[in-house]
Amino acid sequence: MSSPFSLAGKTAVVTGANTGIGQAIALSLAEAGAEVICAGRSAVTETLDLIAAAGGKARGLALDLADPLAGRKVFDNLGPVDILVNNAGIIRRNDAVDFTEADWDEVMDVNLKAVFFLCQGFAKATFARQAKGKIVNIASLLSFQGGIRIASYTSSKSGVAGLTKLLANEWAAKGINVNAIAPGYIVTNNTEALRADPVRNKSILDRIPAGHWGEASDIGGTAVFLASPAADYIHGAILNVDGGWLAR
Ligand SMILES: NC(=O)c1ccc[n+]([C@@H]2O[C@H](COP(=O)([O-])OP(=O)(O)OC[C@H]3O[C@@H](n4cnc5c(N)ncnc54)[C@H](OP(=O)(O)O)[C@@H]3O)[C@@H](O)[C@H]2O)c1
Repeated sequence: MSSPFSLAGKTAVVTGANTGIGQAIALSLAEAGAEVICAGRSAVTETLDLIAAAGGKARGLALDLADPLAGRKVFDNLGPVDILVNNAGIIRRNDAVDFTEADWDEVMDVNLKAVFFLCQGFAKATFARQAKGKIVNIASLLSFQGGIRIASYTSSKSGVAGLTKLLANEWAAKGINVNAIAPGYIVTNNTEALRADPVRNKSILDRIPAGHWGEASDIGGTAVFLASPAADYIHGAILNVDGGWLAR
């Protein structure tokens, strides 16, 4: 009996797969049966080792999204790819009045422009081989909320939510599901400083109905779901995985 959550026979690309949420997604997709192309600007050796140790199949791909157009060509030489997970992302913090053009452009390039051109490259390759595909974008609570001192991050992640819905509208009937995951507060390198600050940590925990931070593996499982046949009729959804934060 085949499971609706199985990714056996599928190939997936995950950006930013060397660490954090991207690493967990790569591992989860491999555990569900996909061959995973782990893309990173840093070495993805640790992720490849984890997947190999779990009995999965993976290979690495050097991909620096500081060039946001890099995604246009990435699918030309990879062979058939069924699943694209746009996970790579950065954040810059400063008061809005002092925010620099570099802190605006760098974040928008990696978090939004690169996501669009990766989606475009993936769709062109998928349409060319008359296949079906799944795109999972990593959004944020800041796709829905304003935040503070993170003007480019909030703008980029709000943009990811809008882009996800636009692409779903254009591509749903053509066989590509475009959806997103909005992670809440997840334990990664990215959030280490927040967790180390007892005052911030307490105020965050006090607001999370689940009462604890999320693990990167929580996002991995959700990515498997959205990449799987179980999600065939889901288009343009942004799935909150936040311990209930946005329900408050
Ligand atoms: N952790 C959370 O609580 C949380 C909440 C909501 C959304 N998110 C989102 O989840 C995603 C992953 O975040 P994380 O928490 O796992 O953070 P992380 O540990 O800092 O990982 C970020 C990933 O993005 C990669 N990346 C950054 N710039 C890149 C570039 N120019 N080219 C290619 N890859 C690049 C990083 O590579 P390097 O290691 O080489 O820098 C790393 O793999 C991001 O989109 C983030 O906005 C995280």
